[in-house]
Amino acid sequence: MLLSHLLHLEGIASVVLERRSREALEKTVRAGVLEHGTAELLKEVGVGERMEREGSVHSGIELRFGGRGHRIDFADLTDGLSITIYGQQEVVKDLIQARLETDGQILFEAEAASLHDLDTVSPRVHFQNDGEEEEISCDFVAGCDGFFGVCRDGIPENARTEYERTYPFAWFGILVEGPPSTEELIYTLHDRGFSLVSTRNPEIQRLYFQCDPADKVENWPDERIWDELSTRLATHDGWELADGNIFQKDIVQMRSFVCEPMQYGKLFLAGDAAHIVPPTGAKGMNLAVADIQVLAHALAEFYRSGDTGLLDAYSETCLHRVWRAQRFSWWMTSMLHRFDRSDPFQLKVQQAELGYVTSSRAAATTIAENYVGAALG
Ligand code: DHB
Repeated sequence: MLLSHLLHLEGIASVVLERRSREALEKTVRAGVLEHGTAELLKEVGVGERMEREGSVHSGIELRFGGRGHRIDFADLTDGLSITIYGQQEVVKDLIQARLETDGQILFEAEAASLHDLDTVSPRVHFQNDGEEEEISCDFVAGCDGFFGVCRDGIPENARTEYERTYPFAWFGILVEGPPSTEELIYTLHDRGFSLVSTRNPEIQRLYFQCDPADKVENWPDERIWDELSTRLATHDGWELADGNIFQKDIVQMRSFVCEPMQYGKLFLAGDAAHIVPPTGAKGMNLAVADIQVLAHALAEFYRSGDTGLLDAYSETCLHRVWRAQRFSWWMTSMLHRFDRSDPFQLKVQQAELGYVTSSRAAATTIAENYVGAALG
């Protein structure tokens, strides 16, 4: 959706094949943290107005462990940079609206089925539309169909390498109607596991806690969730978690994954089709936006001058940022989760690491500049 908008601004036509309905897209709650550069881009390209009005700018986070909170001050450590809290589905809503207002072509409930002739001047995409198989031929295919989409398979197996790590835990996520407990996000390490206090707006809160990947939402009645969160988030000075009405529960699986290269012939993969990060550090949507910015720029250059230099460099350009974000997400995940509760040594080392990153300005800077996105480019 963002690529289609950026291409439109360059006078380049595109068709978006969207597997889901507009309603489902606009309702599904996903991530909510926009890096500094992501928020700036949305403003620059004319889709940031509601984000500026309804989103909230945060200039730090709290890391909590051993019953105490420690603030990482992004503004101080990165020359004034910040993050913006604004739900991914809100970004999607704004983009859909912008595209439809300018007669953009979005086919909803149209699922890409297979890709053809990717190494020719006229690649084709087959897709399902109203139960019929249809075909589009085009100059380029942007594979933005997520981890489970068909596009990645457009790169022949012998031409790609996949790097992967799975984690022995997942995140249990809840949406709560109620007041915020805190002004900034809180990432907590506790003997019983990780937890995170986030928000969507002054009325809706988003919280997560580490759980078993095989766990089920049904195993967690509201009271058990509040008990677990209160235990993990407790501080020596009696901090209290504001409660509210839990209206959604979900389980988020954790994975690190990268496909190299991200391009084959006329196919360019972007976002989760090419890479997945575990959610700790909130890089997923931001990486997708960064890929799209590179791709839109490269396509604009091609249509302006015929020069394929930026397109040829697409994969390498993106993978640089992707691996930096992979490292950061893997590191934050490793520092903040219990991998094995029977291993007290690991907990002690994690607590020592958190002690270091919250007391050394140099170490705190490595979190701040990666979190706001300044160290990834
Ligand atoms: C949220 C998600 C994240 O992965 C994270 O690190 C911080 C916040 C969120 O959904 O609000």
